[in-house]
Amino acid sequence: MPAPKTEVSLHYKAAQQQSTMLIDTSLLSKYNKPGPRYTSYPPANFFSAGTSAKDYENQLKKSNNEDPRNISLYVHVPFCPKLCHFCGCNTQIFNKEEQVKNYFKAVETEIFNIAQHLDKSRKVTQVHWGGGTPNAVSMHYIHAIMEQFRSLFEFSPNAEIAMECNPAYMDANQVKELATSGINRVSLGIQDFDSEVLRTINRDPSLLPIEETCHLLRRHGIQSINFDFVYGLPGQTKERFSRSIEQAIKLAPDRIVTFSYAHVPWVKKAQKILEKQHIPEAEEKIEMLLASESLLTAHGYTAIGIDHYAKPDDELCSALATKQLHRNFQGYCTRATTGQVYAFGCSSISQLAGGYFQNVKSTEEYISKIQTEGYATERGYLLSKEELVIREVINEIMCNHYADFDAISEKFAIGKQHLFSILQYSPNHLKDFAEDGMVSATEQSIEVLPQGYYFVRNIAMVFDPQLSVGENTYSKTV
Ligand SMILES: C[S@@+](CC[C@H](N)C(=O)[O-])C[C@H]1O[C@@H](n2cnc3c(N)ncnc32)[C@H](O)[C@@H]1O
Ligand code: SF4
Repeated sequence: MPAPKTEVSLHYKAAQQQSTMLIDTSLLSKYNKPGPRYTSYPPANFFSAGTSAKDYENQLKKSNNEDPRNISLYVHVPFCPKLCHFCGCNTQIFNKEEQVKNYFKAVETEIFNIAQHLDKSRKVTQVHWGGGTPNAVSMHYIHAIMEQFRSLFEFSPNAEIAMECNPAYMDANQVKELATSGINRVSLGIQDFDSEVLRTINRDPSLLPIEETCHLLRRHGIQSINFDFVYGLPGQTKERFSRSIEQAIKLAPDRIVTFSYAHVPWVKKAQKILEKQHIPEAEEKIEMLLASESLLTAHGYTAIGIDHYAKPDDELCSALATKQLHRNFQGYCTRATTGQVYAFGCSSISQLAGGYFQNVKSTEEYISKIQTEGYATERGYLLSKEELVIREVINEIMCNHYADFDAISEKFAIGKQHLFSILQYSPNHLKDFAEDGMVSATEQSIEVLPQGYYFVRNIAMVFDPQLSVGENTYSKTV
């Protein structure tokens, strides 16, 4: 491994022992390039209008006989009372109740239409409400859809039923309603506790003191709580962001996510407003990441993948230890809860064994397409046999930091040489990463080493034959 040019060093007390984490900042300039996040393979920008509603219907039927057998359901709620300037999600301000009512009516129709193609013996192991802000709409919409799901599908007794919530709209009554609906996991979008940072990004703070919100959630049986943070926003520094993470640690949520701010003003025009202020550079961002990571790990959280942390008794930790971690557009999951994802609502993406199907982005177009055609799919991607193999390798690297070539050959019933020719792989292809101490690559397996965790997207990119990174295609990898 070449000698580091400069180092960002970080010292922290972990239990009784002093640990030192070093990251070679020359690696930052070498590897911090635009690249996909690989929430899906191929990434969503490869989806094309070449897939039709008929393809979707065929794949829905086919999915009944493919793995994973379980069903994950996703509902997209594209409404927020106010828009945050940093936001990368598909959402809009809602001001007319009629619009929300028509939207949920269309979602119910879409759910009904899709359920007709699914085998009733398959079990729902996961429901995810995302957005936008699902907890900003009237709770009767949530109750109605949850009831519809229960009438159309059989639920596994331990199904995860999660909702992304903005604490600015959460009060005691809402917590009660969420629990009544069967929600058992809540992800609270904190982003930062610092009021100045929140003002800069045009975001309201939590309605109730956040400790009270957590107390209420737990009292109503919503035991699994996640906090979302974003680092790299204007106004954030290592010290200020660390204070927010320290505050979070005191509240002991089960999971904490620290997302790297994705600045994509060519897609999200409102982000341009943030350019009037200093947006932290890669080195400042990695300092925030390392500082938060050292605080979290020193307080007993385990790092999961690139941006998630979980308490040791959380099932994500045991899944990581046994290399059983999975990921979909909704986040990390274990093999027990992973299902093929059937998604409803505008812009939502169904992730089936054989392909991806995305609905139209505009709310109005979505409602109109559902009313006239019954489906709102606009673009997608059907994976070839080779791409299924590549997806498996990329997922394993991104989730478990490990790809076992023997196991993958066996899973796809292909010889090792055939596998290597699909992947265009030889250990030599990862020579640069190996020399930089990021991977151990052999003919049996690839293991991403701790130095490589921060650059796992770059390592996955080696296996992506379609990759072509234009100026404004992806956010940077760090
Ligand atoms: C649908 S949003 C959150 C739900 C809710 N509307 C809220 O704001 O609390 C899901 C998460 O995506 C993350 N996010 C949104 N825009 C982002 C961006 N540009 N870069 C990185 N993370 C982002 C935020 O952490 C946010 O909590
Ligand atoms: S971050 Fe959440 S609340 Fe803010 S605009 Fe995006 S979806 Fe809405």
